[in-house]
Amino acid sequence: MLKINEIIQKKGKEKIIMLTAYEYLTAKYLEQAGVDIILVGDSSGMVFSGHKDTLPVTVDDMIYHTKAVMRGAKETPVIVDMPFMSYQVSVEEAKKNAGKILKETGAAGVKMEGGVEICEQVRALLKTGIPVMGHTGMQPQMTRKYGGYPVIGKNELERKQLIENCKALEEAGVFAIVLEKVKAEVAKEITEFLKIPTIGIGSGPFCDGQVLVTHDLLGAFLDFKPKFVKQYEKIGWRSIKAIKKFIDEVKKKKFPGKNYYF
Ligand code: KIV
Repeated sequence: MLKINEIIQKKGKEKIIMLTAYEYLTAKYLEQAGVDIILVGDSSGMVFSGHKDTLPVTVDDMIYHTKAVMRGAKETPVIVDMPFMSYQVSVEEAKKNAGKILKETGAAGVKMEGGVEICEQVRALLKTGIPVMGHTGMQPQMTRKYGGYPVIGKNELERKQLIENCKALEEAGVFAIVLEKVKAEVAKEITEFLKIPTIGIGSGPFCDGQVLVTHDLLGAFLDFKPKFVKQYEKIGWRSIKAIKKFIDEVKKKKFPGKNYYF
C-alpha cells in the first residue's frame, strides 16, 4: 500500500490520482484501475443519498460508506471526509470524530475543509497519529454562506487569503491540499510554493494531482454536470437504456428465455 510520505514524494515527479467511492464495487474498480488514493467524499450526501448539498452527512454515514469501501480497497490508501460540524465545533470534537472514523474503519486518514481556522484541529489530529488532507478554495460545506459554489481566487483579496490558508495548512502538517474551483493561475502559484502536493478539482492543469467524483466522470450522476467534469462514459443513460430493454423483454415475454431458468 502507498504510504502517506510516498504520496508527498510524487510531487513534481508524477501526477497524483484521487477518485471517490462510497461502496465496495466502486472501490474495487478504482483499485483495479490503479488510482493512488480513494476518497470517501461527503459528496455521498448528494450522489448516494440525493440531498441537495453535503451538509446533512453524519459521521456514522461516513463510517458506513468507508467500511464498504475498505472491503473493496485492499491496497489503496483510503481517506475519509470529516462531515459538516464534526470538526468545526472544537478540537475535542475533531479528535473524537476522526478517532472514531479511523478506529471503526481502518482508513488511512481524514480530509477537512478549511484554512487557518482549522489548523488547531489539524495539529491535534497529527499529535494523535491521524494523517490529515486539507481542502480549501471553494469549500462545499460553506455553500449556504456562499449561496452557491463560486470560483475562488478571482481578486487580490481572495488570492491573498487562499495563499495564507494554504501556508497555514502546510505548517500545521497536512500531507496534501485539495484545491477546489481555484483560478488556475492562483492554483499554479500555490502549487509552486508548497512543498506538499496540491490535488485540484476544477483548478486547472498545474496542480500536482487531480480528483473527481467517480460518478461524475462515469456520467452516472445525471442531476447536473459542473464545468470541470469531463464525462468519460455515459453510464447513467446506458443504464436507463438497459433497464428499458429488460422491461420491454419481460412485457413481450422474451425474458426469461430458455437459458435463464431451471
Ligand atoms: O466530497 C468529495 O467528493 C470531495 C471531492 C470532490 C474533492 O471533497
